[in-house]
Amino acid sequence: MSFQLSNKRILLGISGGIAAYKTADWTRALRQDGAVVTVMMTESAQRFITPLTLAALSGNKVHTSMFAIADDERLPHIALGRDCDLILLAPATANTIARLAHGLTDDLVSAVVLAAQAKVLICPAMNGVMYRHPATTHNIARLKEYGYTVIPPACGELACGDQGPGRLAEWETVRQEIIAAITPQDLQGKKIMVSAGPTWEALDPVCLLTNRASGKMGYALAAAARRRGAEVIMVSGPSSITPPFGVKVVSVVSAREMHAAIRQWATAMDVIIMAAAVSDYRPSRYEPHKIKKGVTDTSLPLTANPDILRELGEQKKDTRCAPLLVGFAAESLDHLEEGRRKLTDKKLDLIAINDIKAEDAGFAGDNNRVTLLDCHGTVEEMPLLSKEEVAHRILNAILRQL
Ligand code: C5P
Repeated sequence: MSFQLSNKRILLGISGGIAAYKTADWTRALRQDGAVVTVMMTESAQRFITPLTLAALSGNKVHTSMFAIADDERLPHIALGRDCDLILLAPATANTIARLAHGLTDDLVSAVVLAAQAKVLICPAMNGVMYRHPATTHNIARLKEYGYTVIPPACGELACGDQGPGRLAEWETVRQEIIAAITPQDLQGKKIMVSAGPTWEALDPVCLLTNRASGKMGYALAAAARRRGAEVIMVSGPSSITPPFGVKVVSVVSAREMHAAIRQWATAMDVIIMAAAVSDYRPSRYEPHKIKKGVTDTSLPLTANPDILRELGEQKKDTRCAPLLVGFAAESLDHLEEGRRKLTDKKLDLIAINDIKAEDAGFAGDNNRVTLLDCHGTVEEMPLLSKEEVAHRILNAILRQL
C-alpha cells in the first residue's frame, strides 16, 4: 500500500501492442498500492489481452466503446476523463500517439484524452524502427508540447526480436512518475536543507563513537520535499541509503564537518530540518595510530561537539528572514516534556519527538511514531506510520508555518 496512491483514481488506457499483456500486472500493482483503477481499451488492444482479464484485475467495468451510454447517461469519453486523477496510456502505440498528436478522436481512448483535464502519462512501446521514425519522433515532441508526460521506452530485446529502444518502461519507473504527477507541488520555490544519518567521531584510524541512526528519516524527508517541488540540499552523515533523485547531497563524517557544511548553506535556506543524530561528544584526542590492547589508561576523555541547531536558533534574532527551524528529539524518558523543553531552549519552530522506547518504531526500521509540537503550542500525535508518510506530515506542518 502506498499512501500517495491510496484512493487515487487512475484511468489506464491500453492500446494494441504486444506489451499490453504487462498492463495486467500493472493493474494489480496499482490496486495493491490502494489506487482505484478503471481501464479503457482500443479495438486492437482487445486482440492482445481481453477486457475480461482487466475487469477481473481492476474490479471495475472495462470501457471499449464511445457509444455505450453508462447508467448515469453520461457519454463515456467525457465522463471517464472527468472522474480520474490521472490518465496512464500504456502501451501507447505509434498509432495512438499519432492520433493524439493530431487531435483525432475516432476511438474511445483518444477521445477521452482530448476531452480530459487530468494529467496524462504516456508510455510508448513499439518496434525500435517505428519508434525512431521521424513521424513518431515529431508526434512525441507534440505530445510533450501539449503538456503530457512521456515516459521513454526502455532499451533491450523487443518482442519482434530486434534490439533497441521500444520496450515498455519498467513498472517501478512508471510508478514513480505517477506518484510525482499526482503529488502537489506545494513546496515549489522553497529551499530546504535536511541533515540526516549519524556522525562518526574518530578515536583512531579504526575505532569511532557513533549511534544507531540509519538516515532513513532524513532521506525520506529530503525525497518528499523534492517530490513536492522544493530545492533540497541534504547534509548526510555516513549512510548506506541511495540518495534520493534530484537532491544535492553533501557527505560529511563528523559533527564538526556537518556543522561547517550547514553553516555554509544556512542563510540561503527557507527551512532547515535537523533529522541527523549528531554525536553530542567526540574523543578529546585523536590517536593517529590504532590504539593497542593493554594500554594502562582506559578512560576516554570527551569534548562537546557544537550544537548546530542551538546555534541556528541563536542566530534567528540577528536575522529578519531566518530559516524555519525543525528539530528532532529522540527521548527515552518524559519524551513530550523533553521535546517541549528543546523546542523552547533551541528556539525552534517545530520539533518531531520520537519515543525511542516504542518497540515498533525507531532508528533502523521503516516506520516511525512521532509527535509534532510547534512554537504556537499545536500538538499533533501521529500513529505508527511509514517514514515516508511521517515525512509528508512534517512537511505539511512546515507548510502551515511558512
Ligand atoms: O539536544 P538534542 O541533541 O537531543 O537535540 C536533538 C536535535 O538537535 C536534533 O534535531 C539534532 O539534529 C540536533 N543536534 C544538533 N547538534 C548537536 C546535537 C543535536 O544540531 N550537536
